[in-house]
Amino acid sequence: MGDRAESIPFVDLASQRARLGEKLESAIARVLEHGQYILGPEVAELEKALQTFTGARHCVTCANGTDALTLVLMAENIGRGDAVIVPSFTFVATAEAVAQLGAVPVFADVNADTFNLEVASLQRAISSASKAGLNPRAVIAVDLFGHPADYNALSDVAGKHDLILVADAAQSLGGCSAKSKVGTLAPYTTTSFFPAKPLGCYGDGGAIFTHDEEKAELLRSLRFHGKGSQKYDNVRIGLNSRLDTLQAAILLEKLGIFNDELEARDRIARRYSNALRDNMHVPESTKAYTSSWAQYTVRLADSPQRDTVRKHCAESGIPTAIYYPVPLHRQTGYSHYPVDPDGLPVSEQLSETVLSLPMHPYLDEATQDQIIDVVKGALGNRQ
Ligand SMILES: Cc1ncc(COP(=O)(O)O)c(C=O)c1O
Repeated sequence: MGDRAESIPFVDLASQRARLGEKLESAIARVLEHGQYILGPEVAELEKALQTFTGARHCVTCANGTDALTLVLMAENIGRGDAVIVPSFTFVATAEAVAQLGAVPVFADVNADTFNLEVASLQRAISSASKAGLNPRAVIAVDLFGHPADYNALSDVAGKHDLILVADAAQSLGGCSAKSKVGTLAPYTTTSFFPAKPLGCYGDGGAIFTHDEEKAELLRSLRFHGKGSQKYDNVRIGLNSRLDTLQAAILLEKLGIFNDELEARDRIARRYSNALRDNMHVPESTKAYTSSWAQYTVRLADSPQRDTVRKHCAESGIPTAIYYPVPLHRQTGYSHYPVDPDGLPVSEQLSETVLSLPMHPYLDEATQDQIIDVVKGALGNRQ
């Protein structure tokens, strides 16, 4: 085990910090100078820059990716008696936002290759929610690990059942479907700037994208205590959910190198897949979708094989992670909510077999080769 292996980071924010250098200090210093810490000029500047980046007509920043989902559901008056279909194989926030508002998350299964919402399961979940006396109002699709969901197919189903389609793009900002960028693939798209996300700040942050001007105005009111024409005019019940000016200033600098970082992630992911494809199920880049590669996640044959690979990696100083070890419908806080009546076998199987390897734009080829070698070696396929 060499020194290199001992210091392999899972996500390397330090290299990004070193690359941006003085630019970050200057951006922070500018905010300290003008002192407008809440909704200062950098917030509007970032929203504009993100509109340009995604092609979405409106961007409304907020305090985090969970609030972004909550704000969208609030903008659509979703609450008691309503059902919102969500995948079970995701981070808890997707279902949490629904449950927080008193609505019922109904869990659907995902596709074994893309890890994203499966249309047939979505349809069964909608029917069973209606039969149970709930009012299905929305579906939240998640672009898991950065890979955009199949919004063409999902829009058809949503349209047929009069459901609002929300893209939970917490992990996929920077991804695209054909030539359309994440942020424009659904009527509402939410994202997160959590530090480890492809575009992360140095704290919590989030944003909502929409083409709908009226909804964007409503979201601006909701994120600021339901304000009306001025600060102490409260025309509805809202949240305190604004993106800090300091975080906006940091994000503006990071956005300047984001395309370059996305290209690096894509190059690294393709290299992993070319090396590992014969030994395990790997995520594939296709013409139809470009992932932002928030995670590089493979699927092993079974849970013991995953344990072996994890153990070998740990012994060689290579960090790995399991996203997600327990699907949401099996979580204590969520196990009482309804599921697709045919069950969620893929979500259950994935939680037993997936493994995420180190992924960040600063992963050099030598380190990547070392990771590949250890992963293959664990399966008895060392080259
Ligand atoms: C799929 C998904 N949805 C929502 C969120 C919530 O984002 P945040 O942590 O900014 O609240 C996350 C963050 O990890 C996520 O991965």
